Amino acid sequence: MADRVGVIGAGYVGLTSAACLTHLGHEVVCVDNDQSKVDALSRGEVPIAEPGLAELVHDGLNRGRLRFGTDLEELSEVATVLLCLPTPKGDDGDADVRVLEEVVATLPGVLASGCVVVTKSTVPVGTGARLPELLGTPDLPVVSNPEFLREGHAVEDFLNPDRIVLGSQDRHAAERVAALYTRTNAPVWFTDPASAELAKYASNAFLALKVSYVNVLAELCEHYGADIRDVGRLMGLDSRIGPAFLSPGPGWGGSCLPKDTAALLRTAENAGVDFGILRDAMKANARQQAAVVRKIRCAITGVPDGSLAGTRIGLLGLAFKAGTGDLRDSPALAIARELARSGAVLTAYDPGVDAVDSEAVQVVDDPYLVAKDAAALVVLTEWPEFRDLDWDRLAAVTRQAVVIDARNLLDPAAVTEAGFEHTGLGTGPGR
Ligand code: UGA
Repeated sequence: MADRVGVIGAGYVGLTSAACLTHLGHEVVCVDNDQSKVDALSRGEVPIAEPGLAELVHDGLNRGRLRFGTDLEELSEVATVLLCLPTPKGDDGDADVRVLEEVVATLPGVLASGCVVVTKSTVPVGTGARLPELLGTPDLPVVSNPEFLREGHAVEDFLNPDRIVLGSQDRHAAERVAALYTRTNAPVWFTDPASAELAKYASNAFLALKVSYVNVLAELCEHYGADIRDVGRLMGLDSRIGPAFLSPGPGWGGSCLPKDTAALLRTAENAGVDFGILRDAMKANARQQAAVVRKIRCAITGVPDGSLAGTRIGLLGLAFKAGTGDLRDSPALAIARELARSGAVLTAYDPGVDAVDSEAVQVVDDPYLVAKDAAALVVLTEWPEFRDLDWDRLAAVTRQAVVIDARNLLDPAAVTEAGFEHTGLGTGPGR
């Protein structure tokens, strides 16, 4: 049954949720305190480049099912309100919930009695149990409903989720939230608030562990002449392991995995539990960036500590992963900064990035410009289009035909045929 839903926060999660819930048949009002953002959204201008999102926003606006506003009073008639507020990394490593708490404290004066308050933001374990106290009224039941949206796939993930997690002490309220998702046909799991909150952190930190594991394995492959592409594939064929998140790279980044892994470690420390494997995964992730820098030095100079002073290097990719221009906690950018500190002169091309707030690297809009006079080309983000570059044309303009593929994205045969010396991650010596 269609429901009237309020969404607080028109950021990445809020806007995706609002647009997708409209698409699922609900009437949605999305409130944000940024007047210019609300004005732009009301005109149909969508600030986030997420496939399918703008179309859903336009459709919702045109049908009169989606509305944006700045005043929380607009939520006085909704049956459910989703909190999609930022919870940035706090000074202590845990997520900072001050904004969320401030908003929650104002809700009793705004919402109608019986409105279900839903936390979608990733919040520290225990927040859901504290919210009823903050709200100060039993008339506003609370449900924790963490999101599992990937950047670049947010709409697809919202409409076809692997699972819907609903954590609440109030089963009836949780069932009302479940009803919002009926048309997704996703499995729904009812649990307590702490389990829902922990499931979110546990999933992201486990993905980080998986990637760190495969990154260390790649190093081992190089030592023993094994190929991580085969090792990863063979691991992935075990249905208990699964094929995803087994590709080595420059390390896991973005706005979620680093923040949530640090927060889970902190949560464990608060509970007196030693979650050492998480600490190890974080260390392995930092080491991975250093390992890629070493590989680049070695490929260019022949020795792992060779000087890069004045050396021109071309970077293919700066974003933390393909399909986004997001540079937050991007290992590619960290590697660029480290190379620049060593005196390298860097030019980069990334289909999702126009500019970088850093002196370290000059961003250009043409991959062939990146290659000009370069001593090496380095693939740092796995944009599929890099595979189809004209490697003969690139080889013709580079100073030294060396390519370091830190994503194992390219076809080594095509690259070597064009005259490049090719180095991957964990693909065995000489391959
Ligand atoms: C992640 C989770 O995948 C989502 O489920 C979650 O909802 C989201 O965080 C969030 O908490 O909001 P996202 O940050 O978009 O999504 O990024 P991922 O697709 O998970 O990639 C994370 C990092 O791992 C990237 O740097 C990526 O390049 C790296 N990675 C991933 C690898 O190096 N190798 C792999 O095989 C897979």
